[in-house]
Amino acid sequence: MGQDLKSNAEQWWQTGVIYQIYPLTFVDANGDGVGDLQGIIKKLDYLNDGNPNSETSLGIDAIWLSPINQSPMIDNGYDVSDYYDISDTFGTLEDFEILLEESHKRGIKVILDLVINHTSNQHSWFVESSSSQDNPKSDWYHWQDPAPDGGVPNNWLSYFGGTGWTFNEARKQYYFHTFNKNQPDINWHNTEAKTAIFQMIRFWLDKGVDGFRLDASSVYSKDKYYRYNPVKFGATDKNNYHNQHHLYDKNLPENHQLIQEIRNIIDEYEDRVLIGETFIDNRLYDSTIFYGINNDELHLAFTFEFPLSPWYPGYLQREIDKKELITPKGAWPTYFLDNHDIPRHLSRWIECSLCTNPLGIAQAAAAILLTVRGTPVLYYGQEIGMVDNEDIPPEKIQDKAIVKSETGELPPPRDGARTPMQWNDSINAGFSFGKDVEPWLPVHQNYPEVNVERELKEPDSILNFYRQLIKARKNNEALRIGNWRTLIHYPYEHLAYVRETKAERVLILINFSYEKDLTIDEHISKDNWQVLVSNVRETDKIINLPASLEAFEVSVLRK
Ligand code: GLC
Repeated sequence: MGQDLKSNAEQWWQTGVIYQIYPLTFVDANGDGVGDLQGIIKKLDYLNDGNPNSETSLGIDAIWLSPINQSPMIDNGYDVSDYYDISDTFGTLEDFEILLEESHKRGIKVILDLVINHTSNQHSWFVESSSSQDNPKSDWYHWQDPAPDGGVPNNWLSYFGGTGWTFNEARKQYYFHTFNKNQPDINWHNTEAKTAIFQMIRFWLDKGVDGFRLDASSVYSKDKYYRYNPVKFGATDKNNYHNQHHLYDKNLPENHQLIQEIRNIIDEYEDRVLIGETFIDNRLYDSTIFYGINNDELHLAFTFEFPLSPWYPGYLQREIDKKELITPKGAWPTYFLDNHDIPRHLSRWIECSLCTNPLGIAQAAAAILLTVRGTPVLYYGQEIGMVDNEDIPPEKIQDKAIVKSETGELPPPRDGARTPMQWNDSINAGFSFGKDVEPWLPVHQNYPEVNVERELKEPDSILNFYRQLIKARKNNEALRIGNWRTLIHYPYEHLAYVRETKAERVLILINFSYEKDLTIDEHISKDNWQVLVSNVRETDKIINLPASLEAFEVSVLRK
């Protein structure tokens, strides 16, 4: 099952580990309570100091920065008002150039978030477009006349709640926004708008960025005739957006043509990557079309199989199985547990009946993410076991894009998973030295125990477990590019799977519970397994295949 890359050269975005930084809360170097680029530069050595045997680095290969462009921050950067500039909150273009150079010196690639489904309503393009019906940019956004009764032009909704149409007085027309009303959607049918965006993409590629994560890349396309979306029969999702078939405002065929055009630009440059957030209903099946008919769209398509799975081996394996079956030939999977839009996995999965052992869950989750076939993407703080801050008082909520929407039930605010990175047990968890300033979001109160400094010193910490797994990936071809094959077909308490190339075989055993007997369905040689990483067995020891596992055991063994 699955594709061995065989003679293909290993690409950095296939074998490396990507680390997502939420710049607002990663590190604050100037003491104003908000994260910044100089802060990230200070912490690059923690991410990867360039020494493969480092005792203090995580060892990741690329950073993906949530948006750093100029923005009024209604959606915390996902509302860009100037694509060519860095937000004052984060620093200057020069700071960014230093970040790029310092990252590259350490072998860290830099991936930018590219938010081009929409701009901020404060972007000069929208300011001009909304000023009249006949200005040069009048068609750069989706403008429609009111319905005959003066109401909205059609039934398209905003993902953040309510109608997707907002009335503009100057034009006496409505504009469409998939997200907040301050985030008007760009009209990609307009070739001038398209040219302007493509030019901007080249600007950042010329600067030397290593690729992009395309934000909301499945909603670029909109039907030219603005036809009504059919309503899903009997659907009662709390977010009304999900109660429609998004036939006409999402994932239209032209969406793929557009991503191909962006990919063509990327391919003019050497060694760059195009990742996309696919954000679709039928998530797994549809996501595969984002690789393109000839692998000419995204290099990596983000789908939400782990975030949407319960903490249950069979379900997780089923998702992996499906992805193995449907990932197109020559395409490469990618997985993540957490990002800035969803509760962190240790908060999502803590409800389950086996959650007496959060460290065990953290280790098992880390092992799955870092040993499954595909590129792993980590979200800052995941490697130290950060959980959501569920005690943020309403007056400190920063996720205004959702909170400010007027009607309907909405996705929950996302701030809990965006709190400051916990570096040490000093003031503000070492995120910000500013004594009299409040951090952008309140630090989780568990920071005296859960922080980088402390966990680096504890051999059995979750951070050191991540470090070992990342190192094992680096050193073992089977973990980087090998096929994936399960040894238990309907797993109940244990996962057991192999990753293998012609030259090497690695066996991954994960116990989700206290259940010890290990029953695997397939024959596999019993002797001479070397322990690569384990939370119960001695590293490097040669052992026989265990007949039983310790409670919550995670062991990665090599033949
Ligand atoms: C994506 C981002 C999310 C943002 C939205 C609108 O889903 O991940 O944070 O709010 O797009 O840009």
